[in-house]
Amino acid sequence: MSFEGKTALVAGAGGGMGLNIANDLLAAGANVLLADAKSPPDDIAAGPGRHRYLQGDLTEEAAVEQAVATAVADFGRLDYLVNAIGVLWLEHDVSILEIDWAVWDRVFAVNLKTHAMTSSHAIPEMRKAGGGAMVHFSSIDALSGDPKPQDAYGASKAAVIRLSKAIAVQCAKDRIRSNVILPGPVLSPMQERWQGRPEAQAAVAARVPLGRLGTTQDQADACLFLLSDKASFITGTELIVDGGVTAQP
Ligand SMILES: NC(=O)c1ccc[n+]([C@@H]2O[C@H](COP(=O)([O-])OP(=O)(O)OC[C@H]3O[C@@H](n4cnc5c(N)ncnc54)[C@H](O)[C@@H]3O)[C@@H](O)[C@H]2O)c1
Repeated sequence: MSFEGKTALVAGAGGGMGLNIANDLLAAGANVLLADAKSPPDDIAAGPGRHRYLQGDLTEEAAVEQAVATAVADFGRLDYLVNAIGVLWLEHDVSILEIDWAVWDRVFAVNLKTHAMTSSHAIPEMRKAGGGAMVHFSSIDALSGDPKPQDAYGASKAAVIRLSKAIAVQCAKDRIRSNVILPGPVLSPMQERWQGRPEAQAAVAARVPLGRLGTTQDQADACLFLLSDKASFITGTELIVDGGVTAQP
């Protein structure tokens, strides 16, 4: 899979999966605009692709505009978009019977609106480049109810799937593909409750048929495949990367 001469915008590139994906794209020769609310991580790959890091709140349209414009100004084109932004607020994102609606709105802004706005601003640049590919991160939590729910998280992640299908259908004529990854449990900063707690990790792994937690590399490998020309006939679909969790009764 070659990404040489191509440019990617990775939104959420300060996080576990986003940074892994950005680093793999840089290693595969792509130029990458990394964007995240966090300050730049120390371990951005050396290349051979070139990179630029923009810190900002991507629920703000001005920050999205700046990210897309900077990618095009610095690297000349935009071919790929990865939406790896997300928030999981275990304490505050609860059942709709109890939720604070300000929490609901913020979760939807981060988990859904950012994906829609980055796509909206990226599509005209991808058209100019003659096509492109997008991967948006949903979650297996989009697929089922939960007795101890994060209802805003689950509903916003389900909406990401529908958003991606809309983009896939509207932009196929422009040779722009849009797909979604649904990760299962992955050890990343989002799941800091499992960090340094082998017993908690073992309890989660016991519910995974393949017997382990997912890694950010598992997700990055799936993402680079979907971005690449190896997936040139794949659009408007979902790839579940969960070690078999959702295959169980
Ligand atoms: N880790 C898991 O177990 C898991 C499981 C299923 C789905 N996911 C999804 O996969 C994606 C990547 O997750 P991760 O584990 O790498 O999480 P992470 O917390 O490590 O990374 C998410 C990144 O999004 C950034 N972000 C949040 N709000 C932002 C905003 N307003 N503007 C700009 N950046 C913002 C954060 O700063 C963070 O760096 C997310 O969409 C997440 O919901 C994760």
